[in-house]
Amino acid sequence: MSFSAESSPNIAFIKYWGNRNDELRLPAANSLSMTLSSPTVSVTVDHSDTTVVESSKELTATDIGRFEVTLENIRRYLINLGHETCIPGSLSIQVDSKIPAGIGLASSAAVFSAFAKAIAGLANCGLTDEQISEMARLGSGSAARSILGGFVALENTGDTAVARQVAPQDHWNLYDIVIAPDTSHKKVGSSQGHRAARTSPLFDKRIQEIDRRMAECSDAITQKDFEKLAAVTEEDCMDMHSVMQTQNPPLHYLNDDTHRIVEELTALRTEQHLPLLYTMDAGPTVHVICEESAKDTVLAYANEQKGCQVFEASVGGGAHLV
Ligand code: PMV
Repeated sequence: MSFSAESSPNIAFIKYWGNRNDELRLPAANSLSMTLSSPTVSVTVDHSDTTVVESSKELTATDIGRFEVTLENIRRYLINLGHETCIPGSLSIQVDSKIPAGIGLASSAAVFSAFAKAIAGLANCGLTDEQISEMARLGSGSAARSILGGFVALENTGDTAVARQVAPQDHWNLYDIVIAPDTSHKKVGSSQGHRAARTSPLFDKRIQEIDRRMAECSDAITQKDFEKLAAVTEEDCMDMHSVMQTQNPPLHYLNDDTHRIVEELTALRTEQHLPLLYTMDAGPTVHVICEESAKDTVLAYANEQKGCQVFEASVGGGAHLV
C-alpha cells in the first residue's frame, strides 16, 4: 500500500546556517520559523524492487542521489531505534510540487518533511513527530521544522536536534508575502553553503548570539509583539548574510532588487506605522512577514514590482498524511 504526505516550506526568523555534523545535518545552532500554509508538495512512497524517484518537475542526478542518501540515513536511524523490519530495502518515491517555478521558495523543506512523514506512514511503527522531524532533518535541516505547524524551533539536544512547537498555527495570524525578483543566476545550494559557513571570520560571533536571539524571538511570538519580532528577525537575517558573504568561497545571495525592496518597505513601514518585517534566505527573494492590518498595502506594493513574482501564504499546519 502506498502512503502520501503533503507539506509546505517554512520561513525562518532565526536562521539555520552551518552544521556541527554535515552528514547528519546537525545544526551548529538552534533556529526558529513559521510553517507556511502553501505552496504544497506531496510525496508518495511505496514498496518497490529498486529505489526509483519520479517527479512532476525534472530531477537532476544530484536530486535523485540526495533522496537515495536520505533514505539510507533514515533506514539507519530506524534500525538504531530497533525498527529493522519497518522499512523496506527499496522504495518508489513520487514527488509532486505545486511550488511555482522561479518563485525562489526553497522547496527542500517541503519535500523532505513530506518524504519523512510518508515514510513514517509506511513504516507504521508509532513514530513520534519529534522522531519524524529527525528523519526529515536528514534530508534538509530546515525540513525538520515543517513537520510541525505554527511557530517551530529546531533545537540541539544531546547528540541530536529535534523540532519543537513554540506556538500553534492559530496563535498569531501572520502572512508571508513573498516577492521574488527575476534572477538568471544559478545559486550555490544551501547544503554546499552550510559546509563552508565556518570559514567566515564572523561565524563564531554569530553562534554566540543565537541563544539570546532565540529567547527574544520566542518571547516576541508568545507575546505577539511584532516590533520585537521585526527587530530580532532582521538582525539575524542580515547577520546570516554577512557570514555568507565572508565565507570561503563567498556567497552573495542578495541583489540590487533585494536591497531596493528592503529599503522601500522599511520607508513604507516608518511612514505608515505598518507591522511588517523583511527576511531573506539563500536567494534574492524578499519574504515580507506582516500582520493582517498591513497585508493589503504590502500586497499592493508587491504587485507593483516589475519582473517580480508574488506569492502569498499564511501560517500552516505542517506535514500530514493525505
Ligand atoms: O535546510 P537547508 O539546508 O535548505 O538550509 C536552510 C537555510 C536557510 O533557508 C538559509 C535558513 C533557514 O533556517 O531556513
